Amino acid sequence: ESSSLLKGKRVLITAGPTHEEIDPVRFFTNHSSGKMGYAFAKEAASLGAEVTLVSGPTNLDPPKGVTVIQVHSAHEMYERVLERYKEQDIIIKSAAVADYKPKHTFDQKMKKKDGDLVIEMERTQDILKALGEKKQHQFLVGFAAETQDPHIYGKQKLEKKNLDAIVVNNISSEGAGFGGDTNIVSYLNRHGEQKDYPLLSKEEVAYEILHRIMDDLKDVQN
Ligand code: PMT
Repeated sequence: ESSSLLKGKRVLITAGPTHEEIDPVRFFTNHSSGKMGYAFAKEAASLGAEVTLVSGPTNLDPPKGVTVIQVHSAHEMYERVLERYKEQDIIIKSAAVADYKPKHTFDQKMKKKDGDLVIEMERTQDILKALGEKKQHQFLVGFAAETQDPHIYGKQKLEKKNLDAIVVNNISSEGAGFGGDTNIVSYLNRHGEQKDYPLLSKEEVAYEILHRIMDDLKDVQN
């Protein structure tokens, strides 16, 4: 019965880090492995959804039965997601998108010079915020990676970005957040309801959260 939970639903998931290039050989990035987002894509597909995975650079194999769109930068991720959000029912933003990128990307490899180097950075577009402003019927789920007071900052992001729900992970807890196969998350929805999960594999987190989303979606539709 659960394998058809998401039948007929279109789900877009973002995963992984972004690469913000300084020159042809150097870039800024973060520690996201993509495992959390890929687990969501895999579980959503096995629950019957039509899944699009917009992925930053990772070493992971694309899950079976999922349309994968590979991107590098925050800007590319923004474009690919904004092209596709309209036809989605659920959007889950587990990617760790860079907040800043170098103001200039050099065409040639930068030469080493004497003294220190200063690289000027500018803000990237906030994909989640743009989706929150534009969304119609889509159920929009953000993520928040926090090192302190995850529930407080999570709730603020949920409200500020007009999300339907947010998954917060306290990335300073052992077994949670970047890189590993497990995570410790809480789910907060726009009605102020909160559910805290124990340490689970990233697949289990995805399975549990997708079920929670479907419960909330039913409330919206009824
Ligand atoms: O990939 P793994 O190694 O498995 O690690 C999983 C994870 C820790 C990356 C994941 O669980 C997670 O927390 N992802 C969100 C990380 C993050 O960037 O959080 P944030 O608090 O900086 O961003 C908040 C939300 O805004 C996120 O949904 C993010 O996708 C989104 N965002 C941020 C910046 C930006 N320019 N555009 C965005 O859409």
